[in-house]
Amino acid sequence: MDLTEPIRCERLTLRLLRDDDVDALWPHVSDPELPRYMTWEHHQDRAETARFVAAMVKAAKDGAGYVWTMREGEDFRGLVGLHDVRRQQLAWRIDRAELGYWIGAPWRNRGLTTEGARAALRFGFERLGLHKITVGCVKDNEASVRVIEHLGFRFLGVQREHFHRFGRWWDHLSYELLVDEWCAAAAADRQAPAR
Ligand SMILES: CC(C)(COP(=O)(O)OP(=O)(O)OC[C@H]1O[C@@H](n2cnc3c(N)ncnc32)[C@H](O)[C@@H]1OP(=O)(O)O)[C@@H](O)C(=O)NCCC(=O)NCCS
Repeated sequence: MDLTEPIRCERLTLRLLRDDDVDALWPHVSDPELPRYMTWEHHQDRAETARFVAAMVKAAKDGAGYVWTMREGEDFRGLVGLHDVRRQQLAWRIDRAELGYWIGAPWRNRGLTTEGARAALRFGFERLGLHKITVGCVKDNEASVRVIEHLGFRFLGVQREHFHRFGRWWDHLSYELLVDEWCAAAAADRQAPAR
């Protein structure tokens, strides 16, 4: 089974992140606005971006995480990933990963992230055989909440005042999706009349 093949969707192609993607990422990851609702700081130099890419390339080789560039044709749009792929936690088999994504500002609100993330979920459940995929987002990140709702995640709850940044505490929302829930939602989609 070749897990490195590009994934083709309706408008996007997902291609596993490669060392030569640093230049495509740099204008976005160096923008302080991009990671406003994410856990990281914007990058200060390209070497930081190169280290991030190298870590993701290694994770894919080790089966520990899969991060793809989202492309329209050859053109870069953003990243979508299944992070922290874990099979076992001590005595527990868990087969779990965490979804993450961002897209460059010029290409937002066209449904592209929803499309790319849906393909990543399919990869996680069908190709990796995961049992559960989790996702979380800052409560104020309304665009991300919409993406998560479109993907069919089940809401777990609000983690109140979950972290401190920019001089205040922020609420965080937590969600998960089981393979059976994903299969049921995909079957319902197939039966729905075309819109
Ligand atoms: C969150 C993010 C990935 C969404 O990407 P996108 O490609 O624009 O997402 P989509 O087009 O698939 O869906 C966006 C949805 O949010 C809605 N939306 C956008 N801005 C919104 C806002 N301020 N308030 C409410 N809804 C909003 C859109 O209308 C759309 O919903 P709809 O399809 O029901 O109309 C993008 O905004 C981003 O990269 N943000 C910065 C990084 C980030 O926060 N990543 C997520 C971390 S959890």
